[in-house]
Amino acid sequence: MEKKVLLEVNNLKKYFFLSKKETLKAVDGVTFKVFKGETFGIVGESGCGKSTAGRTIMGLYDQTDGDVVFDGKNVHSLNKKEKFTLHQKIQMIFQDPYASLNPRSTVREIISEPMEVHGILPNKQERLERVYQLLEDVGLNRDHANRYPHEFSGGQRQRIGIARALALNPEFIIADEPISALDVSVQAQVVNLLKKLQREKGLTYLFIAHDLSMVKQISDRIGVMYLGNLVELTSSNQLYTNPLHPYTKALLSAIPIPDPDVEDQRERIILEGDLPSPINPPSGCVFRTRCPAAMDVCAEIKPEWQEIDKDHFVACHLYKKD
Ligand SMILES: Nc1ncnc2c1ncn2[C@@H]1O[C@H](COP(=O)(O)OP(=O)(O)OP(=O)(O)O)[C@@H](O)[C@H]1O
Ligand SMILES: [Mg+2]
Repeated sequence: MEKKVLLEVNNLKKYFFLSKKETLKAVDGVTFKVFKGETFGIVGESGCGKSTAGRTIMGLYDQTDGDVVFDGKNVHSLNKKEKFTLHQKIQMIFQDPYASLNPRSTVREIISEPMEVHGILPNKQERLERVYQLLEDVGLNRDHANRYPHEFSGGQRQRIGIARALALNPEFIIADEPISALDVSVQAQVVNLLKKLQREKGLTYLFIAHDLSMVKQISDRIGVMYLGNLVELTSSNQLYTNPLHPYTKALLSAIPIPDPDVEDQRERIILEGDLPSPINPPSGCVFRTRCPAAMDVCAEIKPEWQEIDKDHFVACHLYKKD
């Protein structure tokens, strides 16, 4: 069956112009597609541009270059009314559910608010019923409706954030590190909830995380980001069994394997140095300053984003498409 493309991101760039001289290249030309009903993971270390990419895709930031096409429509050329409609279809879940929930509002008010703004279910009683339903959908109950965010645990707060994101019946959810702030024991519960909601509601997710082991549990395909660039993209399985980019290999080698024999024999790749600044990124390949396989050409020419095998993309001079 032909998969339907829901989101298309083409050579997207988002620069922050800090001063006349300084430009911070937070996202510097990323290209990928997200198919309807899948979970597309974006992984990369802190500061590599994941959240900025998410916000630019949502249209919260204007893009510097490139474009974002959601369901056939160019996100950055919509008029006000079209943007408003788009924001019913795309919702975001954030890392810190506490910071993103108004502490002075009750759960009912928090979950109702998007419906009020968008004029959905103007009848108060119907709206309240919908709030109750949403609370149940995310594993809470109607008694929680009149409480305040501080009365909940981190995992429960994230459930409230998810209920709010679902209030407008979105098609697409950008989840920006939705479980990073939670206890490990709670993370799996929230991941399972997101999976359940995906099945029930046919949702499509863009799931952002800095931890590859976390992303793998939920993603069908994964894009690996480094300093504003995508370096590799393929199915979750392929990425684990046949990683190509040296950065992906390094990220994978940092994940412990439960089997001690395998763990002992594993080659561990420790990356030297810190993430360079996106203000003056390295010439050529941005990863070359930390790459164990760097060659002369890597400083001179930016590696092309190429589909090296079917559905396996990589930007690295080690690989040439035949
Ligand atoms: N509004 C802004 N103005 C200027 N620079 C910004 C802005 N937002 C982000 N940046 C910079 O852009 C780069 C990418 O930031 P971003 O928050 O997108 O990274 P991230 O991958 O989400 O990191 P984290 O894992 O820490 O959330 C960073 O260098 C950051 O300092
Ligand atoms: Mg972020």
